[in-house]
Amino acid sequence: MKTMSTRILMLLSCALSLPLAGAAGCDTGGGDDDEGDEGATMRPGDACLSCHGPSAEEAAFTVAGTVFNDVDGTAGVDGATVTLVDADGAKVKLSTNSAGNFYTGKALSFPVDVTISKGGDTVEMTAAGNGDCNSCHGDGNAVHLP
Ligand code: HEC
Ligand code: HEC
Repeated sequence: MKTMSTRILMLLSCALSLPLAGAAGCDTGGGDDDEGDEGATMRPGDACLSCHGPSAEEAAFTVAGTVFNDVDGTAGVDGATVTLVDADGAKVKLSTNSAGNFYTGKALSFPVDVTISKGGDTVEMTAAGNGDCNSCHGDGNAVHLP
């Protein structure tokens, strides 16, 4: 898993179109073995909003993260339902993709209550203070079902 500073470096190198040692220019996918494909299944477990924050040139998300099958982030869980209820009661329902990733660009008021469920298993977090789920749920502390 890359460190935050490496991610920022990669972003900067993309923004400036400079090649970075070990990374092929704006490569957002392969390279590290914990990374998925490009786009929606990219970088499961990484802090999505470090690149997809409100001022992102790429898709800007308000909430994004990854649901895994255990705390170590061994494999993504496909087809889990992620329900968000924001501070104003607005509800957003998302579904995880084949990498376990979920994301939305919908404007939400924080904190946000989170419920994640699949096949009778449910996990919850009350009052998540921001939408960059993987920034807090890193190695050994992944968002996971069951
Ligand atoms: C290091 C920066 C970086 C991180 C971290 C990152 N992304 Fe991306 N993402 C990009 C870039 C650059 C693109 C545009 C190129 C591409 O599609 O690969 C992109 C594209 C996407 C797209 C396609 C957007 C569109 O409009 O086509 C989705 C969806 C996406 N990312 C989701 C995620 C999710 C979910 C995470 C976290 C699990 C994540 N990304 C983490 C940089 C990043
Ligand atoms: C600021 C750090 C932080 C952010 C951001 C965050 N969490 Fe959490 N999360 C925690 C902590 C700490 C706990 C354990 C204590 C608790 O439940 O409040 C937790 C607990 C959880 C749990 C329950 C884990 C279990 O074993 O029952 C789930 C599920 C969860 N978070 C999902 C999410 C999702 C999804 C997001 C993004 C919307 C998110 N979290 C954002 C810090 C964070």
